[in-house]
Amino acid sequence: MTETVSTGSTGFAALLRDASAQEHQRAEQSRFMGNLLGGRLGVDAYAELAGQLWFVYRELEQAGERLAADPVVGPFVDPALERTGALERDLLHLRGEGWRDSLSALPATEAYTARLREVARDWAPGYLAHHYTRYLGDLSGGQIIRGIAEKTWGFERKGDGVRFYVFEGVANPAAFKREYRAKLDAAEMDEVERHRIAEECKRAFRLNTALFQDLDGRFPLSA
Ligand code: HEM
Repeated sequence: MTETVSTGSTGFAALLRDASAQEHQRAEQSRFMGNLLGGRLGVDAYAELAGQLWFVYRELEQAGERLAADPVVGPFVDPALERTGALERDLLHLRGEGWRDSLSALPATEAYTARLREVARDWAPGYLAHHYTRYLGDLSGGQIIRGIAEKTWGFERKGDGVRFYVFEGVANPAAFKREYRAKLDAAEMDEVERHRIAEECKRAFRLNTALFQDLDGRFPLSA
């Protein structure tokens, strides 16, 4: 079924999608993602991605808790989206009991979490750019990654190893995304702020692409 964007082409949701379309394409076409989607990487690379995402989501979700009472951000903070716990279950499965000790943030991850911290502290509405970029992505392309991970490394369907990609609390992702976009369109802010957030959204995508580049450096494939 094709999904229609309920917001028309001039709303804030459409602005974010259109503004980041090129960056989305770059992230999607990064070599690390290509290798992952092509089933060419070992499970160690997948486990490292999960580890780096743990740092990102811990920051994203701790900031979300702090911003839950913010009038603009509050309506988007939703326990059904929280991924930190799911990542911890995956990491236990992927890297074993000592997963936390063997894990350290790559430079691109440090840069990503530093930006998240800064935006959440100084500019609450800017946090929306990061919330949108990760969660709408996880509910979209993330589902493709899950299928490939299950097939490539033999994880149980929707089980340990891919729980990050399984939103138990979101019964209908397409409907959820429609409602999310409607909330974006209804968010109280002026055009200048909307465009600033769209710029931050591009930055959020670039931070993700930089992380893929770091990961590619750690898990290169011989030609
Ligand atoms: C290979 C990796 C990826 C694939 C195959 C992929 C695929 C897709 C697809 C098919 C959609 C459209 C879904 C829909 O309209 O319902 C989508 C949307 C989206 N993706 Fe990705 N994606 C990938 C990587 C990423 C990355 C790395 C990010 C950011 C971290 C991201 C963020 C988003 C966002 C925010 C949307 C929602 C756009 C909107 O507002 O409609 N994606 N993705």
